[in-house]
Amino acid sequence: MQQVLKVAMPKGRINKPAIKLFQSAGYPLPDDLDDSRKLIISVPDAKMEFIMAKPVDVATYVEYGVADIGIVGKDVLMEDSRDVYELLDLGIARCRMSVIGLPDWSPVMHPRVATKYPNVASRYFRERGQQVEVIKLNGSIELAPLIGLADRIVDMVETGRTLVENGLVEQEQIFAITSRLIANRVSYRMKNDAIQLLCDRLAAEIGEDAL
Ligand code: PRP
Repeated sequence: MQQVLKVAMPKGRINKPAIKLFQSAGYPLPDDLDDSRKLIISVPDAKMEFIMAKPVDVATYVEYGVADIGIVGKDVLMEDSRDVYELLDLGIARCRMSVIGLPDWSPVMHPRVATKYPNVASRYFRERGQQVEVIKLNGSIELAPLIGLADRIVDMVETGRTLVENGLVEQEQIFAITSRLIANRVSYRMKNDAIQLLCDRLAAEIGEDAL
C-alpha cells in the first residue's frame, strides 16, 4: 500500500497554482485547500497530508523531516541554504529577484540596501566588489527608498505593479524565481516510490526533467 506523503504547502500566492498543478497531475486536491484556517489538512484520496505553512518556513519543515516534501520559491532556497533535495522546477509563481531604486538614483559610497533577503543581497554586492550596508525588513520593502531609509532595495518583482505604483524602477535583475519541489533526504529514501511517482507525474505535466 502506498504511504501517505506529508506535504508542506505554502499559503498565499504559490498556493493556487500549486493546487492546480497537483490536480492536473492526477492528485484530487480540493480547490479550496487554502481557504480554511485549518493548518493540517488530510486528503486521503491523494494519499497526502498538507501542512499549511508560511512560505519562508516550508524548507525548515522539510529539512527537519516533519514534512516529506514541500513547495518553495527559489528565492527562499537562495536566502536560507537548507539540507534538502531540490527535485523539480515546477515552473509556477514565476518572478525575479532584482535591485530596485528611484529613477534618479546615482551611485553613492556605501549605499544602504533594504531587503527581506539579506544573504542574497550581501552575496550579490560582495561578488561585485561593492560595499553596502544591508538593512533587513520584513515586508513593504518598496517603502525604504521612498522615505529615505535606504538608497536601493533588493526584492521580488512579479508583475511590476508595486514598482509602477510607487515610482520605482528595476535597475538590475539578479536571478529568475520559480517554485521548486523539495524533499527531506530520509523521506526521499523511505518513501521513494510515492515521491518518485509524484515527481514523474508533475514532470510529465510541466514538460520538465527532474533537477
Ligand atoms: C512581494 C514583493 C513585492 C511585490 C512584487 O511582496 O516583496 O513587494 O510582491 O509583486 P508585483 O511585481 O506583482 O507588484 P508581497 O506581496 O509578498 O508582500 P510584502 O511587501 O509584505 O513582502
